This record gives sequence, C-alpha cells and structure tokens, in this order.
Amino acid sequence: MERVTVVRRQEELGRAELVEVRALLDDAFADDPLSEDDWQHCQGGRHVLTREDGRLVAYAAVVERVMLLDGVPLAVGYVEGVGVRRSHHRRGLGGTVMAPIEALAGGDLAALALSTSDEGLPFYLARGWRPWPGRTYVDTSAAPHRRPQLLRTPDEDESLLVWPHGPFADVGPDSELACRARSGDDW
Ligand SMILES: CC(C)(COP(=O)(O)OP(=O)(O)OC[C@H]1O[C@@H](n2cnc3c(N)ncnc32)[C@H](O)[C@@H]1OP(=O)(O)O)[C@@H](O)C(=O)NCCC(=O)NCCS
Repeated sequence: MERVTVVRRQEELGRAELVEVRALLDDAFADDPLSEDDWQHCQGGRHVLTREDGRLVAYAAVVERVMLLDGVPLAVGYVEGVGVRRSHHRRGLGGTVMAPIEALAGGDLAALALSTSDEGLPFYLARGWRPWPGRTYVDTSAAPHRRPQLLRTPDEDESLLVWPHGPFADVGPDSELACRARSGDDW
C-alpha cells in the first residue's frame, strides 16, 4: 500500500479534487453533516490530502484569519475540515494531515487554532493541542479597519484549541481572542 500526502494551495487544487474532498468530508462527518458554510470555510488557504493507493482517505485545511489577541491583530492559521474516511480511523491518518499544518507554525503562520468537535478532542489533545485558557469573542464590526465590536462567545471557550507555540505559548485565563464574524459558525 502506498500512502502519499500532499499540501496544495487553493489555486493548485482542481475541480475534480475538490469534488473528491467534499465526498470524503461527507463520509467523515456523516454523524454531523458539513454545511455549505462549513465547506466554504475550508476554502482559500492550504489543503492537505492523504491518499492510499490513489484513494483520498484523509484531509485537512488551514486558512489564514486575522484575529485579535488581547486587542492586537494576529495572523492565525485556522484549521478546518479535518476528516478521515470512517473505514480508516485509528490508523494514524489524522496525524498525517495535521503534521504538515502544525509544521507551519512559527513560519508562514504565526499561530494556529481550531474549533474541535467532541470526537476530535482526544485526537488533538494527544497531538499537543491545548484548550484555549481565556475568553473568546467575535468581532461584529462592519469592516476590519473599523473599531472592533466584540461580543462574547462563551460556548466557544470550551471547544477552541490552540497550538501552544509562538504567540499562544504564554496565554492564560485573562487572555482574550476575537475572530471576525463570518457566515455560518464564527469559530
Ligand atoms: C478525529 C479524526 C480526524 C481522527 O482521525 P484518525 O485518523 O482516526 O486519528 P489517528 O489515527 O491519527 O489518531 C491518533 C491518536 O489520536 C487519539 N484519538 C484519535 N481518535 C480518537 C478517539 N475517537 N477517541 C480517543 N482518542 C482518539 C489516539 O490517541 C490516537 O492514537 P492511538 O490510535 O494510537 O490510540 C477522525 O476521527 C475523524 O475524521 N472524525 C470525524 C470528523 C471529526 O470529528 N473531525 C474533527 C473535526 S474538529
């Protein structure tokens, strides 16, 4: 069996591959189906695809979002759409798509974050991701250059995870992280 992992920028991904990715995510998220907004959130950044003997078996995306860490803008690589074909769980494939993303931290992307599902939580914790220790907000101001209008997102305090390096190495209970509002789930 030959396992191959590639990282593609958005413009390098063809239509046929996008169709394959969508089908994989529909399989991986069968218990909690991916909405059109969730799918759109995977677009625009980098895509990691793992194939076994040519068949797509695992996928993850990372998109850049400017967030406010304690009021200061920070480019965050936000991980979306991590999914492994259900027939292929617990074979290390989740790790094969997350490792190239984690390797971007401190290089192209200053910091990494994601919002986990219940199922994903033990997987991410085992890889070294850590629960966000502070408070989360969404910025609902009309444009990025406007004065931020922050609303608390208390439910997200529980599901936001960060890669504890770079700007997220020293965060604590008083830290505040705000994302910009978007269609669908803000976080
Ligand atoms: C979460 C998911 C990506 C994990 O993929 P995977 O290929 O099965 O995970 P791996 O084989 O790389 O797991 C590595 C380690 O993570 C932990 N882990 C993974 N899944 C776990 C689970 N369901 N329960 C407990 N620990 C788990 C284990 O420590 C595992 O090591 P082990 O198998 O030697 O015990 C996969 O279950 C999935 O696609 N789930 C549905 C979609 C989803 O919820 N995605 C996350 C969105 S935030």
